[in-house]
Amino acid sequence: MRIAKRVENLPPYLFVEITKKIAERKARGEEVVSFAIGDPDIPTPSHIIDRLCQAAQDPANHRYPETDGLPELRQAIAGWYERRFGVSLDADKEVLPLIGAKEGIGHIAFCFIDPGDVALVPDPAYPVFSIGTMLAGGVPYYMPLVEENDFLPDLGAIPDYILEKAKLLWINYPNNPTSAIADLDFFNRVVEFAQRHELAVCHDAPYSEVAFDGYQPVSFMQAGRAKEIGVEFHSLSKSYNMTGWRIGMVVGNSEMIDALKRIKSNLDSGIPQAIQYAAIEALTGSQDCIQEHNAIYQRRRDLIIDVLNSIGLEAKPPKAGLYIWAKVPEGYTSVDLATDLLEEIGVVVIPGVGYGKNGEGYVRLSLTIPDAGLAKGLSRLAGWHNIRREHKAKK
Ligand SMILES: Cc1ncc(COP(=O)(O)O)c(C=O)c1O
Repeated sequence: MRIAKRVENLPPYLFVEITKKIAERKARGEEVVSFAIGDPDIPTPSHIIDRLCQAAQDPANHRYPETDGLPELRQAIAGWYERRFGVSLDADKEVLPLIGAKEGIGHIAFCFIDPGDVALVPDPAYPVFSIGTMLAGGVPYYMPLVEENDFLPDLGAIPDYILEKAKLLWINYPNNPTSAIADLDFFNRVVEFAQRHELAVCHDAPYSEVAFDGYQPVSFMQAGRAKEIGVEFHSLSKSYNMTGWRIGMVVGNSEMIDALKRIKSNLDSGIPQAIQYAAIEALTGSQDCIQEHNAIYQRRRDLIIDVLNSIGLEAKPPKAGLYIWAKVPEGYTSVDLATDLLEEIGVVVIPGVGYGKNGEGYVRLSLTIPDAGLAKGLSRLAGWHNIRREHKAKK
């Protein structure tokens, strides 16, 4: 048996490695506190689950769904965009439900990238932007996201010879892993840049509803003429704690959506309909849960930031997103720090370099840790300061 090169050349998916390390330690009877994955610990709100259970009882929902989802779901997505962002969408042509945003992000590469084509991808970034590009035979060109530029890509620094081969531009705000935010002015500049260089823009926005201190993230679709050149990926995963149900959407340019629909109709058979009904309930029902969840995350954010800064892992409170992007202390790489924290105090953080070269110098901590684990993790982190001092004294 010979596995294809495209599979052999794939780097191991970041979280698979981390999950393996956690499982090994647990198997040895060690208690691990994980700040690793951005997977909401708070359950899906009960009104959404009730609708899911009810829909699961209906035999009409036991059959193959349509690739482009229930018309009522597409309407619900369009309605939500109108209410939340004031963006109007044609529910038939400009909306496509997905089996989670990740699925669409991976597949859209096949709509634009022929072998040798370039996709402009942020670094650090959610790994699927570059992996989708590579699976389609393309080459990612990494745009550094650095603090001096507020973790926004410097579009003017992309060389012309790259722009000639580039077909797709990926952006993601509120950002994973940096939790940086972008305003409409930036999105307008992206539209203008994409039009000038004939790029299709993919904005990934699964964290737009996780925001703090009264801040409300904007949608790329609010930028003038965004629909002419781009789409926005979104998800119910983080907004409604529905990571396990696998449902998301892409909205915007009808030609891009149609191309993705053509790929998907040949590969998958849609989203289980009971889950689609749950999503309709999430998008059209009470939105109170969003503020409730954000209040929990904001409290956790503040507790974590205080402890990190007190032990020399400098971090600023993010305005949105599920992550804290903390600087590693001098003398450590991000992998050194993550390894020491795991080995010395059983705390898991993600080394920033796992998200790309420019993630070096940072570690990522997620706010999706239940309160009991959080208290334990924070007390271990606070105590790590002393362990570090002892190490330094011994050297
Ligand atoms: C930036 C980003 N995009 C997409 C996703 C995946 O979303 P979904 O659960 O809808 O597949 C994640 C999940 O962590 C993410 O961080």
